[in-house]
Amino acid sequence: MTATPEPAPESAPRQARPPYPAPCPPDAVRRVACVGAGVIGGGWAAHFLARGYDVTAWDPAPDAEQRLRRLVDAAWPALRQLGLHASASPERLTVLPTLEEAVADAEFVQESAPEKLDLKRSLLARIDAATPAGVVVASSTSGYPMTDMQGEAADPGRLLVGHPFNPPYLIPLVEVVGGKLTEPGAVDWASRFYEAAGKSVITMERELPGFIANRLQEALWREALHMVANGEATVQEIDDSITEGPGLRWAFMGPCLTFALAGGEGGMAHMLDHFGPSLKSPWTRLEAPELDASLRDAMVEGCDAAAAGRSVAQLVAERDQGVIDVLRATGRLPQGGSQRQDAPADSPGAGTDTGGAEPAEGEQR
Ligand SMILES: NC(=O)c1ccc[n+]([C@@H]2O[C@H](COP(=O)([O-])OP(=O)(O)OC[C@H]3O[C@@H](n4cnc5c(N)ncnc54)[C@H](O)[C@@H]3O)[C@@H](O)[C@H]2O)c1
Repeated sequence: MTATPEPAPESAPRQARPPYPAPCPPDAVRRVACVGAGVIGGGWAAHFLARGYDVTAWDPAPDAEQRLRRLVDAAWPALRQLGLHASASPERLTVLPTLEEAVADAEFVQESAPEKLDLKRSLLARIDAATPAGVVVASSTSGYPMTDMQGEAADPGRLLVGHPFNPPYLIPLVEVVGGKLTEPGAVDWASRFYEAAGKSVITMERELPGFIANRLQEALWREALHMVANGEATVQEIDDSITEGPGLRWAFMGPCLTFALAGGEGGMAHMLDHFGPSLKSPWTRLEAPELDASLRDAMVEGCDAAAAGRSVAQLVAERDQGVIDVLRATGRLPQGGSQRQDAPADSPGAGTDTGGAEPAEGEQR
């Protein structure tokens, strides 16, 4: 991030891809099939129903239909708060006795079966055999690359990953990525479909086990397990360190841009020059990459692009307001007004919710 606001550099145009010959355009889809209807498949079904789609579902468990309808009913009040599509109704859900019936008329298929590679490989081949030609099929897998799952299918070109977060009806993100045999146009089609269905989409250009968000979660998770295993921190301390610390910022500003603000007016460039040497310190078991010029430039340019012309002062104000909003929304601040109610206005720590002095340099991260 630069000190003075400048227009954000334009990112390189993505290569034009031939349109994927799906039977209907991504924003005209009306019928979605969910294969596997547990926590994630059920959450997807609830999301698509709330968006006004007709949903067919299949799951081999004997009690699957009951569980699925219970999940949809339980989610509906939250979905109502989010705003239902005019045609949204749980009655648009049909649970069918066979996979083949569930996908027979589908215009998009979301597979959410258990995370077992062999099961996914054969199930995706079965779905492919039963689904109308050209219809895109996405897997909810948490981490398998599609290349490892698509080999048994007759038409692997339409198979891709659409990785959601739990619950899919509330968390907007879906990571979309194809495998080696996936048609690039199918990836574009799926990204446009998910956007039309109200999701926030990251379309990945290359496969990466765990995709983006799970790699980040997993790094944090593994370090947490190491700290507990070594008696370095308790479970409570680990959870508090996030919910009372960086977690408050991550809801609205990512880890790169928040770290850029730790560099003050100098932004990410100053932050890296200042804190770069601590990459050699044993602050985590995950080895740091070499902070060479190209990585430094990539981080600085990335933060410039993320800042999108906003000045450091604007970003600081946005961050501060965001933290206040999150504290208030999670019941840790009174709903109205800007004064803390648990302390007299003239007592230490009282006053505006942002607190007093700036933290010392080096603490701000
Ligand atoms: N739980 C999460 O937080 C989460 C988040 C993102 C992605 N995922 C991924 O979503 C997928 C489903 O995970 P989940 O948490 O919903 O698991 P789950 O155990 O809650 O649900 C799996 C469902 O699949 C059904 N099933 C079993 N065999 C099947 C088959 N052959 N064909 C179709 N369905 C079958 C089961 O009856 C069950 O209802 C996995 O790939 C998982 O990695 C999970």
